[in-house]
Amino acid sequence: MAETILVTGATGYIGSHTCVCLLKAGWRVVAVDNLSNSSMRTVDRIQTLCRQKLPFHLIDVRDESALMRLLSQENISAAIHFAGLKSVSESISKPLDYYDNNVNGSITLLKVLHQHGVRKFVFSSSATVYGEPKHVPISENASLSATNPYGRSKLFIEQIVNDLSEADAEWRIATLRYFNPAGAHESGLLGEDPRGQPNNLMPYIAQVAVGKLPHLSVFGNDYPTSDGTGVRDYIHVMDLAQGHLSALSRLYSRSGSFTVNLGTGQGVTVLQAVAAFEKACGASIPITVAPRRAGDIASCYASANKAEELLNWKAEKTLLQMVNDHWRWQKQNPNGY
Ligand code: NAD
Ligand code: WQD
Repeated sequence: MAETILVTGATGYIGSHTCVCLLKAGWRVVAVDNLSNSSMRTVDRIQTLCRQKLPFHLIDVRDESALMRLLSQENISAAIHFAGLKSVSESISKPLDYYDNNVNGSITLLKVLHQHGVRKFVFSSSATVYGEPKHVPISENASLSATNPYGRSKLFIEQIVNDLSEADAEWRIATLRYFNPAGAHESGLLGEDPRGQPNNLMPYIAQVAVGKLPHLSVFGNDYPTSDGTGVRDYIHVMDLAQGHLSALSRLYSRSGSFTVNLGTGQGVTVLQAVAAFEKACGASIPITVAPRRAGDIASCYASANKAEELLNWKAEKTLLQMVNDHWRWQKQNPNGY
């Protein structure tokens, strides 16, 4: 009998792709989401892709009694916790929402798991916890800081799960620091579906390519980088999803907790990302150069060595595959789900 994994935030961008990888690899999945930033249609798409039923529960992770009921019904042995709010700008205007959803949501979930004897936990952290990095590539032992409430919520949760594994060696916790997820499932059935105008580069370029937005504003071309634009580590969402399976396998095979970067180790500038997308969609993406965005850093990319050593995982897909898949999703679903 396959182990059952609780996936919170399962209908979101990264959660939905991870559900597909889990189901295809033979795990049983119980999906939870409050649909605050996703659609039920995702469940249908996952079921279509995997040709099996995905049990879905409309639950807010802050709802302790709903989680208690669910855990009493299902024989869960590990949880992957994606559920949370993720917009840096929104976190500055609504800090309490971010601390409540992200920090309280995680605490509530951890308490319920603890009460049901579940001690394996995978947490979605972010490269944002490195603040303004002193060196690139960034390794896991770099200093940590946060410049906004979203980043601080991730740092707090990292500290909470560290304290938990210190207090009780039975806990096996994987803290995964994602760099910049991009791309979509190769079928074009799953992808990122931002509500309103996108904040992030790839979905923004995709909406320009499909004609929903007139042009991309490039936030600054005077950074100390190869072409003056910001450098990031874009990682294909399917590679990222596979990273969760590798982390999960390690939790089942060995005791102890760990923190790893999930990135490619390669830095890509904004202009390189635009050029790659132009290749994918066969059209030019109009750009205008705008001032730097407040809070942005020049360069951020991962040292991917620890993930390879510890998890035997590394990102396989190229930037071109990423933008091709992103474009297929955007073209097939111009208005999202
Ligand atoms: P997403 O918004 O697409 O998915 C998050 C899901 O969680 C959504 O479906 C939303 O409805 C759900 N959710 C939010 N609050 C909830 C709550 N209280 N109870 C139940 N469900 C709730 O975001 P994503 O890009 O898939 O990100 C997943 C996780 O990865 C988040 O924790 C995010 O902070 C983290 N992360 C994302 C990125 C990124 O750039 N996408 C980078 C680093 C880390
Ligand atoms: C990438 C590059 C921009 C939009 C954010 C969060 C981070 C993480 C991922 C969750 C930068 C430039 C962007 C645009 C642009 N999320 N850009 N025009 O800033 O690395 O990270 O998302 O954890 O916490 O801060 O990603 O995609 O917003 O920007 O020129 O319209 O593209 O300046 O150089 P970022 P991004």
